[in-house]
Amino acid sequence: MRTSPVDRDPSADWAEVDEYLAQTLLPEDETLELVLDENQAAGLPAIDVSPLQGQLLSLLVRISGARRVLEIGTLGGYSTIHLARALPAGGRVVTLEQAPDHAEVARRNLERAGFGDVVDVRVGAALDTLPELAAEGGEPFDLVFIDADKPNNPHYLEWALRLTRPGSLIVGDNVVRAGRVAREEDTEPAITGTREFLTALGEDPRLEVTALQTVGAKGWDGFTLAVVR
Ligand code: SAH
Ligand code: DHB
Ligand code: MG
Repeated sequence: MRTSPVDRDPSADWAEVDEYLAQTLLPEDETLELVLDENQAAGLPAIDVSPLQGQLLSLLVRISGARRVLEIGTLGGYSTIHLARALPAGGRVVTLEQAPDHAEVARRNLERAGFGDVVDVRVGAALDTLPELAAEGGEPFDLVFIDADKPNNPHYLEWALRLTRPGSLIVGDNVVRAGRVAREEDTEPAITGTREFLTALGEDPRLEVTALQTVGAKGWDGFTLAVVR
């Protein structure tokens, strides 16, 4: 039976159009496909960014001319590869991952993708590894991608501000969660954490901010973009 435009599930269209756009715009990428296969074989959840979203991360690194990138939440390194491949020669990614088994898969994937020497995977809860990173006193990061446990997002924003410089870009993933973020009655910690993160972004005079809703292969979600003044 033909469905009328009003009773179709729009998420099927989002996925179909995402597939079409990715096919049309992105080159075949055996490295990235292999990463997703390896992640699946290792039992990692398929919560990586989508191919088009990954390419957005690459372009943000490229546009901003970032040389030093910090990622909070590595999983199998799918987003990490997108960040790393847009760096200039001598650039570096530090990526933080709590789960040792995720970090191990990521290290293998990054090595195979040729970024073993470009990416530093640090294992541990990010709220433990971020102070260590700060204590090392390295150069500020030019771009931070926040994509780990959402209840800690307000803390990750504070650390990102400590570890960046004026002009740095701070990107947050999963800030819409199928609209749940705007439903006050939804008080799951991941949602309230995201809400506090958004409130902090909106109130912080050190930041110039926007958010972008996305639909596609990963459903309905969104990113925040913030530039440090
Ligand atoms: N950025 C990845 C997806 C990350 S999924 C990509 O797009 O490919 C979120 C990751 O954050 C998971 O691997 C999870 O283990 C990790 N994580 C959860 N809590 C964390 C914490 N407290 N510190 C560091 N990593 C954490
Ligand atoms: C989840 C986490 C993510 O970072 C993501 O992009 C999608 C889903 C999750 O924990 O469910
Ligand atoms: Mg995410």
